[in-house]
Amino acid sequence: MRYIVEPRLKGAEINKNIYGQFSEHLGRCIYGGLFVGKDSKIENVRGIRSDVVDALKKMGIPNLRWPGGCFADEYHWRDGIGEPSTRKKMINTNWGGVTEDNSFGTHEFLDLCDQIGCEPYINLNVGSGTVQEMEEWVEYMTSSNLSPMTALREKNGRKEPWNVKFLGIGNENWGCGGSMRPEYYSDVYRRYQTFVHQYGAQKPFKIACGAGTGFKGLNLEWTDVLMKNAAHAMDGLSLHYYTVLGSWEKKGSATEFTEDDYYRTLVRAQFVEELLSKHDAVMSEYDPDKRIWLILDEWGTWFDVEPGTNPGFLYQQNTMRDALVAGISLNSLQRHADRVKMANIAQLVNVLQSPILTEGDKMVLTPTYYAFDLYQKHQQNTLLGSLLETESIDTADGGLKTISETASEDKDGNIVITLTNASAKSAASIQLRIDGGRYEYASGRVLTGDMHDMNTFDEKNAVAPKAFTDVKIAAADDNGTEAEISLPSCSLTELVFKRL
Ligand code: AHR
Repeated sequence: MRYIVEPRLKGAEINKNIYGQFSEHLGRCIYGGLFVGKDSKIENVRGIRSDVVDALKKMGIPNLRWPGGCFADEYHWRDGIGEPSTRKKMINTNWGGVTEDNSFGTHEFLDLCDQIGCEPYINLNVGSGTVQEMEEWVEYMTSSNLSPMTALREKNGRKEPWNVKFLGIGNENWGCGGSMRPEYYSDVYRRYQTFVHQYGAQKPFKIACGAGTGFKGLNLEWTDVLMKNAAHAMDGLSLHYYTVLGSWEKKGSATEFTEDDYYRTLVRAQFVEELLSKHDAVMSEYDPDKRIWLILDEWGTWFDVEPGTNPGFLYQQNTMRDALVAGISLNSLQRHADRVKMANIAQLVNVLQSPILTEGDKMVLTPTYYAFDLYQKHQQNTLLGSLLETESIDTADGGLKTISETASEDKDGNIVITLTNASAKSAASIQLRIDGGRYEYASGRVLTGDMHDMNTFDEKNAVAPKAFTDVKIAAADDNGTEAEISLPSCSLTELVFKRL
């Protein structure tokens, strides 16, 4: 298969926020996964798990969304501040009906972001919260002037304001966030965002709730109405898309699946391309200069929960199939870098397509973790023009392109390429041409295995990236560089070429 990269065709910067993550008060994501409390035997800093923080730093996580999800529109921030033992308890009605003791709140979340070194993205409550409550939360977090909110913050142990830029105004307000119609939500959005003020140097970046979509269900109307009525008042518009095989009632196992299930899952990941193109086209009717970010702030696989676990906790294992979903989706997100500037996979730990799983004091890094790790060199690079001739695999849901790709250039002129090979059985031979210059192969890594391969608490390193050496430079001169690459089946590969 022929693959041409054109370094003279420069695209947009690949915003690092495309590698964002999502953490909700759901199942064991926060409690157990990220937060164990300061009296836990598990190593922690002010209650936050050190093993997880260390792993996230290595993965290069740029931002973290919290507290939901559906939970966000039932979350009342005042319940989660002050002395933990006195905090109000509530029922988590969305996720398993369990008691939420609010021991992880604003201070703990922002401490977590500080420890990881990532930016917070806070989803404000529109569905069941008042304008005043929302306005005061932003003031509590970001103002340094004397006010009842800043005095309260200081009383709770934090004198300096935090730097919180990304603010989501409602979540899935067409569903769990209030069952609103787009016309109504546009007005509600306009009203709520009016009271999100700038207190310090940081201008709030206001994110409107976008459409919920499904495979071949684009819901462009929501985007159209929102853009028509509220584009002037937003910096970003979100979008949710889950890779679901089967029906919501029977989505299938995360670990036991046929080759046909594997390919049909990947066709759904490939749909991200169409999803982004079509929503971008609608947004461009109102915002041709692409000022407003399209933000895929919930994406990833959603399978049946692991047998024997609470159905409301959405705990699923993670295989090479998930890594391929991540690799194909990230390639699409990056290739839309002119409009798509942020994305958040659901969810960070122990929920849905997680990079990290925990069980007591044990932690395991999933194939999805390694997909993010493998792709991270693209962050803040310049997207390059590229052309790929790829074969296609037939499925009942349409053709699946065997190969997906992204090419980018870093500040030193080196070229970073990521490629996925979806074929479950066959290696793929790629004839690469980097046009207009002489390059050498500097380094690369590959993540590969059987589509069912996964890491477990007993076998933590069954899937992990290895050095990739299957690159032969066939010719190189000032007109271009030719290389032969052999990609193993079911794989994600990262390649770095150095300009000579
Ligand atoms: O990620 C799980 C849930 O999926 C979120 O709470 C909600 O926004 C979406 O429906």
